[in-house]
Amino acid sequence: MTTTENSATRVDNSSTPVILGGARGGPDVTTMRTDRWWLAPVITVAILGSFVIYATWAAFVNKDYYVGANMHRDLISPFYSPCLTQSCVATGAANKAVFSWWTISPALLILIFPLGFRMTCYYYRRSYYRSFWWAPPACSVADSHKSYSGESRFPLIMQNVHRYFWYFGLVFNVLLTYDAVMAFRTPGDGGIGVTIGTMVLCLNATLLWGYSLSCHACRHLCGGQVRSFSKHPIRYKFWKFVTPLNAKHMQFAWVSLFVVALTDVYVRLVASGTITDFKLF
Ligand code: FES
Repeated sequence: MTTTENSATRVDNSSTPVILGGARGGPDVTTMRTDRWWLAPVITVAILGSFVIYATWAAFVNKDYYVGANMHRDLISPFYSPCLTQSCVATGAANKAVFSWWTISPALLILIFPLGFRMTCYYYRRSYYRSFWWAPPACSVADSHKSYSGESRFPLIMQNVHRYFWYFGLVFNVLLTYDAVMAFRTPGDGGIGVTIGTMVLCLNATLLWGYSLSCHACRHLCGGQVRSFSKHPIRYKFWKFVTPLNAKHMQFAWVSLFVVALTDVYVRLVASGTITDFKLF
């Protein structure tokens, strides 16, 4: 027997018998992985599910979203900003109401934009396709669906509008940055200062900018479809700036999600009188 025949025999004896032709061309077994591949999808479902439940409750509850001059503060929850309806309790908002006919929670009017931005995010898609649809749940684990139409049909074709939600996301970032600047106001208490609430709103705005600027669509907008960077020096500079941020997009996605919820919780606790917004200086 030649050397080649010997190695062929060894391969045959050590190979694991599987039946090809399972889900989407994979082996007809769920997986041969023995590690805890299911842990990441379970954690993702727990965190995203909790956020959706909390955000839904916070959007419908329609109270305790603003801390105003009666507490010497100017803090608004990111879920309720911009406050555009007649029912808004934020300072002066009722007088500037854009949608005077809107009588239910003002949060429901604006939530579609940050929600749409997150729902269509390329990173979150990967996460929730894996965790909620099991399509597939992890590398080398069989898909739980027999067919795959991609994002070419309704409703998933809607994912392609991500770049437009990105534009709206920038508008919200500007507004939330404005809110963070306003949070330095302490009306009737020296006029200006830094409180824990100021820092929470600043952190939230900063992380949302990080999330938006690290977006894949943003990177493409900066440097995509350019044949020669030397002919587009400005775009090259933008691309160089956002590329390292883009490498951290997953981290920005999770941390900014956590902090936006935390900001709402903090404002809610102060507004309801449960805690005091401590003034640092
Ligand atoms: S890819 Fe995640 S926000 Fe654009």
